[in-house]
Amino acid sequence: MSEQIKKPVKITDTILRDAHQSLIATRMPTSIMLPIVDKLDQVGYNAVECWGGATFDSCLRFLKEDPWERLRALRAGFKNTKLQMLLRGQNLLGYSHYSDDVVEYFVQKSIANGIDIIRIFDCLNDLRNLETSVRACKAEGGHAQIALSYTLGDAYTEEYWMNIARQIEEMGADSICIKDMAGLLVPYEAEKLVRALKAGSSLPLEMHTHYTSGCASMTYLKAVEAGADILDCAISPFALGTSQPATEVMVETFKGTPYDTGYDQKLLAEIADYFRPYREECLESGLMSTKVLGVNIKTLLYQVPGGMLSNTISQLKEQGAEDKFQAVLEEIPRVRKDFGEPPLVTPSSQIVGTQAIMNVLMGERYKMATGQTKDFLAGKYGKTVKPFNPEVVKKIIGDTEPITCRPADLIEPQLEAFEEAVRPWKQQDEDTLSYALFPQVAVEFFKYRDAQQKKVDVTAADTANGAYPV
Ligand code: CO
Repeated sequence: MSEQIKKPVKITDTILRDAHQSLIATRMPTSIMLPIVDKLDQVGYNAVECWGGATFDSCLRFLKEDPWERLRALRAGFKNTKLQMLLRGQNLLGYSHYSDDVVEYFVQKSIANGIDIIRIFDCLNDLRNLETSVRACKAEGGHAQIALSYTLGDAYTEEYWMNIARQIEEMGADSICIKDMAGLLVPYEAEKLVRALKAGSSLPLEMHTHYTSGCASMTYLKAVEAGADILDCAISPFALGTSQPATEVMVETFKGTPYDTGYDQKLLAEIADYFRPYREECLESGLMSTKVLGVNIKTLLYQVPGGMLSNTISQLKEQGAEDKFQAVLEEIPRVRKDFGEPPLVTPSSQIVGTQAIMNVLMGERYKMATGQTKDFLAGKYGKTVKPFNPEVVKKIIGDTEPITCRPADLIEPQLEAFEEAVRPWKQQDEDTLSYALFPQVAVEFFKYRDAQQKKVDVTAADTANGAYPV
């Protein structure tokens, strides 16, 4: 047999975004990140995922930090490594569609402040919802990665994955990612999936999964053997559980094989040593719960993401109807089918979950529906892989004609109105975008920022007056 061709697998470390989003509700402050940037920068990672997702909201709401300033600080520290963010297509980092001018401006500013790779996804895998962000990213010289939300169901055949991979390449994206937010992807299915995607496109393929069901490392192994190029992992103190497989474990797994990453285990050990005391601190304060660290096989059993399971339980508790949990679990797949079998990820997971609860609690299916459900069935979130159940559509939106175009085509430009509204608070261009995404939270933050600055001014003036020793 001839010598095997070397095909080193690359790793994107999620420690600065998904790892802490999944384990400690996105509460890692910039002050914990900066001291280790130098070492992270020496590993040779494909990228470090550090922004987007829930980090933006968490910075403004809970940490009282400017997310843009965090990004600039990380950019200044990472000299060699690409910085990656997660973007929810036309929703940006929010929960509803924005107009194209806002999407374009957000992408432009993300890249200008230091992002290299934008991972863009849509909860329905409706590629039309990704067009504007992909185009804007390319126009700014960024790497546009399209992430497909992984899910199970009759419609998601190998042919489906092959075709959508081909369309992604035709759209001009630079790479594809499989985003398995629920940990539903099991090892031998990963092998088939990777083959299908690779048959449809020659773009680099990245795998993103969560350890929730305990399969993730094995899934990665089979995916790499089938041709996957990049793996999303987290340095061990913030790996496993609802986070990603551990970086060091995957590096060790491929050592001495054609897939050898070439990363330095000693350096990774130093990075892990840095984060270990912080993990302990999070466990002691209760920020990290042992509940998220174990194996949760229910996610496979019910094909429902872990986060959706816990949301359902808390919604039922509020209604004093915990005994209906099993009934709701059985109703979720039926609603999902009526709603065109979408992947269950924000915001489709909330829409399907809430409807399933209503159906069970009311004792009659579709007697009531939320505004979000009405919009969903009116096509305002985009196109699902299968058609909606026409009887359900009729019951919920009556004779309203559903839209079939790209939903953002119906949204008038919004940027100017946001500029106007943010004027009293604005200190930098980026403030407009913080306001556009989370108006109330951003204003709270702007007020806090003003107050802090006044404090500093007073201290500086007093110092100048000789009131305080310097
Ligand atoms: Co994730």
